[in-house]
Amino acid sequence: IQSEASGVTDYEPLIIAHRGASAVQPEHTFFAYDQALEDGADYIEIDLRRTADGELVAMHDETVDRTTDGKGLVEELTLEEVKALDAGEGQTVPTLGEILDWYGSGVYYYIETREDEAGELVMEEGLLQLLDQYAIPRNQVILQSFSKDSIRTLHELDPELTLVQLLKKKDAEQLNEKDLQALKETAFGVGIYAGILDEATVDLIQQHELEIHAYYRGDEREWTKRMLQHEVDGIFSDNPAYLMNVMKE
Ligand code: G3P
Ligand code: CA
Repeated sequence: IQSEASGVTDYEPLIIAHRGASAVQPEHTFFAYDQALEDGADYIEIDLRRTADGELVAMHDETVDRTTDGKGLVEELTLEEVKALDAGEGQTVPTLGEILDWYGSGVYYYIETREDEAGELVMEEGLLQLLDQYAIPRNQVILQSFSKDSIRTLHELDPELTLVQLLKKKDAEQLNEKDLQALKETAFGVGIYAGILDEATVDLIQQHELEIHAYYRGDEREWTKRMLQHEVDGIFSDNPAYLMNVMKE
């Protein structure tokens, strides 16, 4: 929103620390989450995977290969095996329980569910149980997924949840009235790739009173200005300190 008199904008998107402050610390470690909070992020983003013995851990990829010194599919490793790995700078892969236990109700969480390798929903009930176990107020949590089934299931488990439907590039480009009406039945917003942002898409989504949270791949310098120009409601940032500096310019 631009004030004509002052030229000052009061636009302030939610700053969502993508995998923690993952540009400056090893992603999905306590170092990355602490850095994000220190740098002023509103939410810490947490990708979930489920281990062979049913524990939810913070991990983006299906394998541990890229982000740890180990190898293999997360869903084929036990928690003990995952915990033996180095996730960077001597940090272990945190479980969701450890994260919720440590930060409690002092922070805001933006948690992503995924289907397992077989396309089954395996984490929704366990996730909600953990939120309850650690007494995390539901209004401090946004849940997101690319899986429409997961979003629908979460909504059925608790209609009060704040849910964001992540959209693949192709789905976001082809959004129509019917899709948006369907999305509104369960979702508070959509998460879309910044590369497809244009005025028409932003207008269409906002006309339906759905929030737009944008994510990017790669170098935030290429994307940040574009996301800010479109005044999206939330930005997944690998480097919240950088984003805040750009916003001050
Ligand atoms: O959750 C938003 C964004 O994180 C989606 O992409 O692959 O980084 O989880 P990805
Ligand atoms: Ca994610």
